[in-house]
Amino acid sequence: MAKIAQKCPDIPVTVVDVNPARIEAWQSEDLPVYEPGLLEVVKEARDRNLFFSTDVHGAIREADILFISVNTPTKTVGVGAGSAADLQYVEKCAREIAKVADSDKIIVEKSTVPVRTAESIRRILDGYGVKWKYQVLSNPEFLAEGTAMEDLEDPDRVLIGGEETGEGRAAVEALAGVYANWVPRERILTTNLWSSELSKLTANAFLAQRISSINAISALCEATGADIDQVAKSIGLDARIGPKFLRASVGFGGSCFQKDILNLVYLCEYFGLPDVARYWRGVVEMNDYQKNRYSRRIVDTLFNTVAGKRIAVLGFAFKKDTNDTRESAAIYVCRDLLIEGAELAIFDPKVEAEQIYRDLGREPGDAQIRIEPDPESAATGAHALALLTEWDAFRSDQLDYRRLHAVMEKPAFLFDGRNLLDLAEIRRIGFEAHGIGKP
Ligand code: UDX
Repeated sequence: MAKIAQKCPDIPVTVVDVNPARIEAWQSEDLPVYEPGLLEVVKEARDRNLFFSTDVHGAIREADILFISVNTPTKTVGVGAGSAADLQYVEKCAREIAKVADSDKIIVEKSTVPVRTAESIRRILDGYGVKWKYQVLSNPEFLAEGTAMEDLEDPDRVLIGGEETGEGRAAVEALAGVYANWVPRERILTTNLWSSELSKLTANAFLAQRISSINAISALCEATGADIDQVAKSIGLDARIGPKFLRASVGFGGSCFQKDILNLVYLCEYFGLPDVARYWRGVVEMNDYQKNRYSRRIVDTLFNTVAGKRIAVLGFAFKKDTNDTRESAAIYVCRDLLIEGAELAIFDPKVEAEQIYRDLGREPGDAQIRIEPDPESAATGAHALALLTEWDAFRSDQLDYRRLHAVMEKPAFLFDGRNLLDLAEIRRIGFEAHGIGKP
């Protein structure tokens, strides 16, 4: 919304939330999310044509276009628990709109939703017997965290799905007109509603599948002496495969990949396609395998026990340049190591200490966890260093690994879960170093 406001100074954009603390944060210098470049964009448009408010009803009444941008997490209880999307917040928004609005609206699904959610929104509005006219559009967001501002500035495509009727097409055109303020027309793709909803799930499933594929091969590399970076480079030069999203890692995380694939799996099962469901479930299973394989390798290498040993964890966010930890591989690895009795000394440049405790299901002050202010204090007295997020600050030209080695127990082990470092160089320092898919 900040990007739309920045690019379309004539369009007033109001962001509403029921949580006053969040709205207050959006009005301050200290935004609720860390994203490079976001504060600058917000500041450019804020109080010009970008407003933050808790007046949900007022904003619903005034707007011509309403974006539903709420959480759609995986259901944890009830039918479809563990795979279906929890649509309660989308449903609440639809009910709120039905009750409050009194003029024609275009309602846009921005949240990633299962296919045919637009239908549910429609049924709710019709159930309330609303007197005004509406169109429901699907406009999934493809930005990635950490690069969100660049992705929004110059998107590969903007996708808008709508009903294939005169009124539907007019609504699609109205939204396309907003994006056309800065996105070239040929990159604004219009489809029917269901194609748009399914495209988002499919894009994420394909991206995650590439990571699971390369991670599967990384296990074979470790067994055979092949080097995963060399394999990735060789296959990536095939123009049909391409070089992106082939970085072997301790596993993908983030709020989208796992959730969307499970969602796809649920849809396939629901529509009686168990073979298709099984195929996609494999992508998530391979990711679980990879996270587990990494923590097992740490334990095995440290003479089969980490009980009472200090392990320095560098990075807790699910990727660099974000403070988001949702589904971060670091959470799974740390939990495994805690169960084995390790003491963790965790450093992340952006993730708050309280968040780390919450993610690990422990109270602040837990005897097994220390949150450290910098890599060196994390490494002090540690038996091993586990690199779990690819922050630039952890690159060997930024961080002095000699100093870290000097303050660690010997032999000092290093496990590079992101293949960020030149292991030959790290071994010269004296580390016993392991990477993902590295000989
Ligand atoms: C993803 C999609 O890229 C985006 O289009 C969609 O809108 C939301 O989901 P995001 O989760 O923010 O974006 O980050 P992304 O860059 O895709 O990374 C996801 C995870 O995969 C991270 O944990 C990342 O470290 C991991 N990853 C990515 C790899 O392990 N290897 C790779 O080669 C690429």
